[in-house]
Amino acid sequence: FDLPSANILHTSTPHHWRDAEPGESEEQFSSWLAEDLETLILAEGPETIAAFIGEPIMGAGGVIVPPAGYWEKIQAVLSKYGILLVADEVICGFGRTGKMFGSQTFGIKPDIMVLSKQISSSYLPISALLINDKVFEPIADESNRIGTFGHGFTGGGHPVAAAVALENIKLIEERDLVGNARKVGARLQARLRKLDSHPLVGEVRGVGLIAAVELVADKASKAPWGKPAALGALVNGFLQQNGVISRNMGDAIAFCPPLIITEAEVDALVDAFERSLDAALPQVQPQG
Ligand SMILES: Cc1ncc(COP(=O)(O)O)c(C=O)c1O
Repeated sequence: FDLPSANILHTSTPHHWRDAEPGESEEQFSSWLAEDLETLILAEGPETIAAFIGEPIMGAGGVIVPPAGYWEKIQAVLSKYGILLVADEVICGFGRTGKMFGSQTFGIKPDIMVLSKQISSSYLPISALLINDKVFEPIADESNRIGTFGHGFTGGGHPVAAAVALENIKLIEERDLVGNARKVGARLQARLRKLDSHPLVGEVRGVGLIAAVELVADKASKAPWGKPAALGALVNGFLQQNGVISRNMGDAIAFCPPLIITEAEVDALVDAFERSLDAALPQVQPQG
């Protein structure tokens, strides 16, 4: 969340549309990102680095879908230096990307997975941490040596929240909401991509039932409309008038609908978005 936390370093954002060199392919950009990460690791000292933390798709950071080859190349660097990989599945987990976990969608083999949100659909607050043997074994060995697992939370392992999460996961499975996210998500992605030619649309991106449309005042230069986030806020206002509560992350309008959404509802959502873009256009490009 970009807090100035001590001992946390940030590597480059994998946003091909915004940050790649002209003519650079997604694979080339991914190779550069992996090299950039390796440079950072070597400068810091690999033996001092505990883990790399990343979301399969960056969610609240603007729905940044990593470029082709990104996770494969990043994981190769991490395993070269024995650095653990933590997948933050708080948004991607439990179906969002059309598979149960975003790690499956992107071929990620995490050592630790962080789960929250859809684990209980937030009916009750609960989060969970999944660890593999590589992480578990030293913890178990040390706990056995000192005679206790000296770690706990006041509200940890709460049986009521755990029961609600289990029931919620049962419903996700019974109603095949992961399959629904895949099927209806394909429609959401296809319908949004048809807006690519709209004069205010810079980039449409997303997988399954998570997407964002980044707005620009000028498609060629990718320039914002005055101050960054002004166009996002303008379109967001029109969206609300058209009955859609969304969220602009700067100039990116994000879509993250419930996993039960239907194809007809996706159509209504994108229709409302299209009307909102058209309503904003005369203000942004008055001559057009
Ligand atoms: C990707 C991601 N990780 C972690 C969190 C924090 O999770 P929680 O709200 O369950 O503490 C959030 C947002 O809430 C998130 O979007």
